[in-house]
Amino acid sequence: MKDLLRTEHLSREDVELILDTAAQFASKPMRSKDALANQTVAIYMTKSSTRTRLASETAVAHLGGTPIFLRGEDLQIGRGETISDTAKVISGFASALIVRTFAQSDVDELGAHATIPVLNGLTDTDHPTQLLADWLTIREVFGNDVSGRKFTYVGDGNNMAHAWLTMGAIMGAHVVVATPSGKWAPDETAIQSARNIASKTGAKLEVVTDPLDAVKDASVVYTDVWMSMGDPEAVRSEKLKALAPFAVTKDLMSKTASDSIFMHCLPAHRGEEVEAEVIDGSKSVVWREAFHRRTTIQAVLYHLVRGELTGN
Ligand code: CP
Ligand code: NVA
Repeated sequence: MKDLLRTEHLSREDVELILDTAAQFASKPMRSKDALANQTVAIYMTKSSTRTRLASETAVAHLGGTPIFLRGEDLQIGRGETISDTAKVISGFASALIVRTFAQSDVDELGAHATIPVLNGLTDTDHPTQLLADWLTIREVFGNDVSGRKFTYVGDGNNMAHAWLTMGAIMGAHVVVATPSGKWAPDETAIQSARNIASKTGAKLEVVTDPLDAVKDASVVYTDVWMSMGDPEAVRSEKLKALAPFAVTKDLMSKTASDSIFMHCLPAHRGEEVEAEVIDGSKSVVWREAFHRRTTIQAVLYHLVRGELTGN
């Protein structure tokens, strides 16, 4: 596998390898400090980022390389240069490219035309590197064997909901995604693609509309912002109203397993998708999750550049 363009491209073996390496980078960040010596990694973003940018730049630095951050509006791509020409040019300067943008098809096209590894740093429909950080955090809390545990995502049926279904399918897990029906439900194509993987791995995937039932006895409750980057402001009031019953409150958390944890990819909006008492409470692991953005991106870069991921 040359690139990490979509969560669905990862095999379970890839995920396990990345998580094992990331765990080593967590305890010893500089253990492969020459892996990208004298090399550069381009980081191209047309959307805002705190964690993914910091994680990517520090990951490259810890591997001995130099990150080059490219803002969307600074490239000629914004003035009509094609994605394929841009991909070829970046390939001549950098050893890898990390991209955050709107359309998944743009990331796919960059991957197709770049001769270097391309990593998806979030699109409107997917967020693979976030899920790797999430699963490493889960593994630290619950260990490698998560059979019998239920992982519940509650809220908007967005890129994070899709990525959760897909990664749950790859890992053979029991994942429940609870969203409003209709407009704010996950995309059918993402559900179908995750179900196809689940049919081979034995994962149990449920897409439901009742948040209370969804979190009952769950080991993990996960949520995300209700207004994602790129969502039109015009839908805000309608969307927030539809999502109000999906807020992660102390009351909702009281229905979960006694050893449950709360997770959020961040940024968070206290008082919208999550109560402050939950995200700042004892069950929250959000800072460890954020920390693992660096360890997991470092591991993905390390293995992709060495051609060590197989894909599925
Ligand atoms: N979780 C995440 O991707 O955060 P940023 O948008 O800050 O990169
Ligand atoms: N769903 C959010 C995730 C941010 C990390 C967004 O796309 O804006």
